Amino acid sequence: MEGSKTRYADNTSQPFSAGIDSYLTPTELFYIRSHFPTPALDHASYKLRIGGAVRSPFALSYDELRNMPSETRVATLECAGNSRVFLVPQVQGAQWELGAVSNAEWTGVPLRVLLERAGLAEDACEIVLEGADRGTPKEEPVPPVPISYTWSLPRTKALRSEVLIAYQMNGRELPRDHGFPVRAIVPGHYGMTSVKWLTGIQAVREPFHGYWQTSDYAYWAEMEGKPVRRALGEMQLKSEIARPRVYETLAPNRIYTISGAAWAGETDVTEIAVSTDGGRTWTEAEFVDPVRRHAWRRWKLDWLTPKEPGQFTLLARAKDAAGVIQPDKHDRNYGTYVINHPLPIEVFVGDSRGS
Ligand code: MTE
Repeated sequence: MEGSKTRYADNTSQPFSAGIDSYLTPTELFYIRSHFPTPALDHASYKLRIGGAVRSPFALSYDELRNMPSETRVATLECAGNSRVFLVPQVQGAQWELGAVSNAEWTGVPLRVLLERAGLAEDACEIVLEGADRGTPKEEPVPPVPISYTWSLPRTKALRSEVLIAYQMNGRELPRDHGFPVRAIVPGHYGMTSVKWLTGIQAVREPFHGYWQTSDYAYWAEMEGKPVRRALGEMQLKSEIARPRVYETLAPNRIYTISGAAWAGETDVTEIAVSTDGGRTWTEAEFVDPVRRHAWRRWKLDWLTPKEPGQFTLLARAKDAAGVIQPDKHDRNYGTYVINHPLPIEVFVGDSRGS
């Protein structure tokens, strides 16, 4: 199992369709995104250190963490670069198609419980999560020394009950590629915040300007009329079509069930519309899953395919609880991230392609 799993690491063409057959993505189909080689950790020597701007720093062994009261939550993780292949013109970075998003059930101890036990300082503004993996990023600007994978959460998010220090995924121990033995799970935020192989939790009094959230996963925001770089965080409203797949050929004059999933960050997805004519007209689709904050909702729509052969552009567009719909276009301020406009799925209706 472990061997076959490794083949999927950073598999940018991992099919989205297989991952949504069940509400919880089977662990072996859950996407993997790792920047450095997977570190070799084990239960016996594992230590999680909690320190920095706290009154009483402490360390936990794996068994001590396992013996604390736990919570289990469903959360969708999406890599901020998911669907990058849809950007025109083509951009640098992992050419993710639709598959860098998955949904799983996570079990662990709320981060808040650990921070309360440590006595978080009143003036601590961020919580820095540090993974055991290290290396030198390939992209410029290359840091002067090898770095670990590190990400800071704003204090308010870190103290929310949904943020878990997790040791189980879908009811089983975390697989190595997904952060064994312990990782953070930050529901509602893009995947890069859910630090794997977590060994350090440090409270800080100054904003943390680490490599990953300044040089890599950052975007252009505006402050008093001036552009400033900010770390990405909350996932943006998005839907994807899983079936049919790009360039699939469908039989004419038949019912075809178009299906997919939609998700959002700190809100709920309340509506989903599908177009089979490139966005000229939209039809409301039906949800398969109930509303559950931080988890995706799969949806479907029966389409009577045209009698005449031809090429058709399918789109899906979600609406959230505040009435906001997905943007028409990719926002260039996000660079090569946050690709949450309706993604065109070109299909053919006919006996075979082009016929
Ligand atoms: N944590 C560590 N320590 N190292 C990493 O490279 N990758 C991040 C995040 N956590 C990463 C990490 C990114 S970019 C994503 S999208 C998610 O892990 C992917 O989690 P998964 O591989 O379990 O799907």
